[in-house]
Amino acid sequence: MCVMNQNETPKKLWRKIFDLLPQRQKLSFFLILVILAVSAVLSQLTPLAVGYLTDRVLAEPDVTFLAVLPVLLVILLVNVVNEVIKVARRLIVEDTATQAEKNARQRAASSLLMAPLSYFRSHMTGNIHGRLNRSLDGTIKLIKLMFMDFAPAVTTGIAAIVTIFIQLPVPVACLVILVIPVGTFIVLRQIGTQKGIRVELMETKADMDGMMVELLGGIETIRALDGAQAEGDRILARSEQLRRKEMRHHRAMAFYDCLKFINEAVFSVLVIGISVLLASRGRISIGTVLTAYLCFTQLTGPLRELHRILDEFSECVVLANDYFRILELPVDFSYLTEDIPVKVQEENSAVQTKKSPDEMCSEHPAGLSANSSGHSEAEGLTGLTELSRPQTGDIRLCNVNFSYPEKSEQRILKNISFSIPAGTFVGIAGPSGCGKSSLIKVIDRLEQAQGEIFLGEAELSSFSRRALAENIALVPQTPFIIADTVYHNICYGMKREVSLEEVREAARKANIAADIEKLPGSYQFELSEGGANLSGGQRQRIALARIFLKKPKILILDEATSALDNTSEKLIQAQIEKMKEDCGTTVISIAHRLSTLQNCDEIIVIDKGEIVQKGTFQNLRETPGIFRDMALGIVK
Ligand SMILES: Nc1ncnc2c1ncn2[C@@H]1O[C@H](COP(=O)(O)OP(=O)(O)OP(=O)(O)O)[C@@H](O)[C@H]1O
Ligand SMILES: [Mg+2]
Repeated sequence: MCVMNQNETPKKLWRKIFDLLPQRQKLSFFLILVILAVSAVLSQLTPLAVGYLTDRVLAEPDVTFLAVLPVLLVILLVNVVNEVIKVARRLIVEDTATQAEKNARQRAASSLLMAPLSYFRSHMTGNIHGRLNRSLDGTIKLIKLMFMDFAPAVTTGIAAIVTIFIQLPVPVACLVILVIPVGTFIVLRQIGTQKGIRVELMETKADMDGMMVELLGGIETIRALDGAQAEGDRILARSEQLRRKEMRHHRAMAFYDCLKFINEAVFSVLVIGISVLLASRGRISIGTVLTAYLCFTQLTGPLRELHRILDEFSECVVLANDYFRILELPVDFSYLTEDIPVKVQEENSAVQTKKSPDEMCSEHPAGLSANSSGHSEAEGLTGLTELSRPQTGDIRLCNVNFSYPEKSEQRILKNISFSIPAGTFVGIAGPSGCGKSSLIKVIDRLEQAQGEIFLGEAELSSFSRRALAENIALVPQTPFIIADTVYHNICYGMKREVSLEEVREAARKANIAADIEKLPGSYQFELSEGGANLSGGQRQRIALARIFLKKPKILILDEATSALDNTSEKLIQAQIEKMKEDCGTTVISIAHRLSTLQNCDEIIVIDKGEIVQKGTFQNLRETPGIFRDMALGIVK
């Protein structure tokens, strides 16, 4: 659900909108204000010219067309100039709005992509998407409303009031402009009563977006279950709720619109009646009657617009506030560690007081002490640079506990301690739901755990997101495929230019090259969203090809070969082992198909979030326990 309460003060909101604009665009606001002032003055010239025409020109005996022509030309010229100015204003406003939209979209995308993962688990994707689009549109509409509708209405209204006071006796002018407070009162009542409903409608629509995206994501399952009718009925029920809410809103709007027209009609009659009465008594001229009425319509015109504008304004303010709420989402904890340049880091390392891994964790496999990795302790305290050096793909966990933030009472990982020496191949096995994926998310800093985790000689918390991405490759259970070419999918995440030859080589190692070459366009073949035009195994192999391009220090495979046939899996595993030998890559592999883990140096077996066994494949197969049960398919 979106949270759309607690709006900013208008001043703060406008400051934030202003900040979305580049400097040049900020200056154009002032140009718009000048244009508005000129336009408001010009708009008063027509009623004045009509009054002049009536009193001075038409009052003359034997009026000729030539005598009228100059006044008509002035009216024409004034209107043409005013329209040209309005076009210029419109172009400046559109330019400003599109600039703001471009920046706003980019900022929102960055904000979302850096938000904590728990945010995405508690909000439906479609809901976030719909909310982002609506709030962004609302924010941009607010800019347009302000400078295309609201400000022109106000400036024209002010100019009309000034003309009315100049032309009519003060008591009459006061009576005429009473139409404004009465009209504004009605509008404010309308906005006040309808505000909640508009927010509610927006939230319901956002929920329906979420529902729709969820359904489309499961289209195959829904079809297999023949669920189209049932889902259609569910949507119908939700749409009916939405329709009822909308109708309640429209009924209220119709009532207030009625009041507004009555207000306008009453004051029109008053203006005509009083000014004609005054003219009949010689207090004002007939021309002034016309000028007064035209000025009155210039007041009611903007006033009528003001109803719509304020109405839309209130909606856009809610949306703009929601947009800035997206922009101000908390940043994921893993972005809070900054990159420290190598030099500074090494200088600082001498004064840091972090514990060395030797001090902190009792468990160390042979040959894994800080000295054995060939680095001094001071060197070992650096982050990115340390991991980037050879032989620093060691991973050590000491008393690690973890719960998902949205379910903090359920401990997913309990007192996990182990060490993985650099350049080794470690398997993680255990029943479904025991915490394997959670464990690797913790190691890649996607989730935050309690306890101590070291990569190389440095604490995991000292690694920036960039440093982790440079050194760790995680192939998740569900491969991420973008709607783009095969080439771009294999290069995805690479921070350097990658040649087609390199991509081909990576594809060959991932045993997908032959499949790709059969596709029309080969590496330029466009994949569908989520790789829907590939088989499950092909998707996995595309994701695996990425690791051969990246050659990471640490490779984490989460069921990354689960959809592959045995031959493909073996070929790819041989390539992974070759990369391990060549680059000293540390490999962590999670697999349900236990044969995948046959060549592991060590297998860690987890059950209900705890390490219950450790050993080599052969060892574990021969020892009574959960691993042997899983290998033999024994159900207990
Ligand atoms: N976001 C979450 N919030 C709360 N609990 C979660 C969340 N994600 C996973 N869990 C729970 O954490 C436990 C461990 O999940 P995890 O995905 O780590 O299991 P797994 O061992 O990888 O299972 P599988 O082999 O089926 O992939 C499960 O009980 C799961 O229900
Ligand atoms: Mg898993």
